[in-house]
Amino acid sequence: MTVIETTRARLKQRIVDVLADDLAAVREELARQFRSPSMFVQDVAEHVSRFQGKQIRPLLLLLSARVSGISQHERRRAAVLAAVVEMIHAATLVHDDVIDDSDLRRHVSTVHRRWNTETSVLFGDYLFSRAFHLAATTGDAEACRLIGRATNRTCEGELNQIGARLEQSVSERDYFRVVQGKTAQLFAVSCRLGARVGGASERLQSQLSLFGGRLGIAFQIADDVLDLTETAESTGKDSANDLANHRMTLPILRALRLGGAEERERIRGLLFSADASDQRVLRESGLLQRGLESAQQSCERFAERAVRCLRQFPDSEERRLLELVAGYSAHRSE
Ligand code: IPE
Ligand code: IPE
Ligand code: MG
Ligand code: MG
Repeated sequence: MTVIETTRARLKQRIVDVLADDLAAVREELARQFRSPSMFVQDVAEHVSRFQGKQIRPLLLLLSARVSGISQHERRRAAVLAAVVEMIHAATLVHDDVIDDSDLRRHVSTVHRRWNTETSVLFGDYLFSRAFHLAATTGDAEACRLIGRATNRTCEGELNQIGARLEQSVSERDYFRVVQGKTAQLFAVSCRLGARVGGASERLQSQLSLFGGRLGIAFQIADDVLDLTETAESTGKDSANDLANHRMTLPILRALRLGGAEERERIRGLLFSADASDQRVLRESGLLQRGLESAQQSCERFAERAVRCLRQFPDSEERRLLELVAGYSAHRSE
């Protein structure tokens, strides 16, 4: 085992030790929500839930509730909200795989490969609507409003990404605008909901939301680095899928910035080439390696800036775990 793997295994164990009952409640709720009287819907649901994923958004929600001092009788509501954010996340993934024409998700075929695009579109919609319905059962209208707003912004982020790709001239500003929407919003609202159900003041809710937003950006940059550096065996999803989609992610943008005019043209040519071997050349180029390093540094900076938002909370096991989750997000391999 590498040092990172050992650290990851320990972190997982500590989280399980602290949140065991809550996580069991979230799993039960998710199992209920993935049940349907329709055999076909049940088949798709079983396929999508065969592997759990990292469940980082529910973890953030539950830990945010704990650092905010959640009372015993609010625990159930926190577990329901944690299931809601995971379902919204799962819905965005099912749709995202159609958009990105991906083959693999969580080590199994994507829904559109296993069935077809119609199934992906409607199953994603079904997950969104079940998530909103479940959120409404909490009776907390403000929580529903926050969830609706975060989901709107997540979808806007995915749409902006399509708009940016069509233009072929993406700036870092465009990139961060996309990421701020498609990934950061759900991270931010997960932390805010945890803080809210945990009884934190408005100010501390905003602080945890800021923590989540910054962490979400770090998480997406790490994902964009992993797309170019990791294998499908390790991530459970297509390797170099962003390249196949000619996507200007941060490592590419940084490589373009670091290169001279000639190198820049060469990189752009390789990125927008339809030839898979050109993409391999790009992946192995020294300039891209420097782009990857620069993106990784930014990722770590966002994670550090996220952790700074936690200073206003008293030192506790749960706060330490939030810090560790932030560190893990910037140094993961899956
Ligand atoms: C994947 O999210 C999409 C991104 C925002 C990068 P996760 O990496 O949290 O996916 P799972 O749930 O663990 O599969
Ligand atoms: C994140 O972007 C997608 C969403 C937030 C829905 P990616 O397209 O990079 O996510 P993966 O790599 O497919 O998981
Ligand atoms: Mg994708
Ligand atoms: Mg990705």
